[in-house]
Amino acid sequence: MRILFIGDIFGRPGRNVVREHLRRLLKENAVDLCIANGENAAGGFGLTPAIAEEFFDLGVDVITTGNHVWDKRELTDYFNAAVNEPYSPARRVLRPANYPAGTPGVGVYEGTTLAGVAYAVINLQGRVFMANIDDPFRVADRLLAATSAKVIFIDFHAEATSEKVALGWYLDGRVTALIGTHTHIPTADSRVLPGGTAYQTDVGMTGPYESVIGVQKEQIVQRFLTSLPGRFEAANNDVRLCSVLVECDEITGRARSIQRIVLNEAGQNEESWQGAHGK
Ligand SMILES: [Fe+2]
Repeated sequence: MRILFIGDIFGRPGRNVVREHLRRLLKENAVDLCIANGENAAGGFGLTPAIAEEFFDLGVDVITTGNHVWDKRELTDYFNAAVNEPYSPARRVLRPANYPAGTPGVGVYEGTTLAGVAYAVINLQGRVFMANIDDPFRVADRLLAATSAKVIFIDFHAEATSEKVALGWYLDGRVTALIGTHTHIPTADSRVLPGGTAYQTDVGMTGPYESVIGVQKEQIVQRFLTSLPGRFEAANNDVRLCSVLVECDEITGRARSIQRIVLNEAGQNEESWQGAHGK
């Protein structure tokens, strides 16, 4: 079984590169399950129901989020309207599962692939340098005890590499893959841990890399120079689609391999980051 996970889709540039290339990527790699982090898809801040449903139409099965999940009020309404609607597409949009009890939305989706394989997708958020929510380690234990699926994918939306790799080791052998999001910079540590969990500290952003994590670089540089508040707008140049392809045994749920797939705007594999002057 093959799982494609697309890193944080950022603003219109990120949506465009997904719209252009996702269908082909899914077909060429015979993907059975496609998951995408969409928390920055609406102008860099949050996600709307209309954007979520466009991703579903393009072939995404489950959308994960993170700390920006509450930025657009419509998404909270979308979650609340689906409370008694188990087949609503809103149920396939997750918020981190370790937000406190009573928070709108859910952090787990359990489904079945077209080939009939049961799977679970879990969204968790870190606590180091982030909001002080529930313990992602203990919440993962509780959720894993409650799922019967063998194929389990976790998007761990967190800031600190230490917290991400620690949760990877903690869950090694208990989940198919644990992949990090949120920092918007892909890391070069994709590997299958000894127990059979595919791991990468951060999959990287799907969006404009001539930027500071998606935002126009001049605006962020000014913020560092002056500490004054200012506008944050999505950048436009050097757009990449950052993803990982995980292949696993559908009976045991153990990962066999993990491969980074990075596409440029033209849809070509682009793992070099030399920029215009290096070419
Ligand atoms: Fe985030």
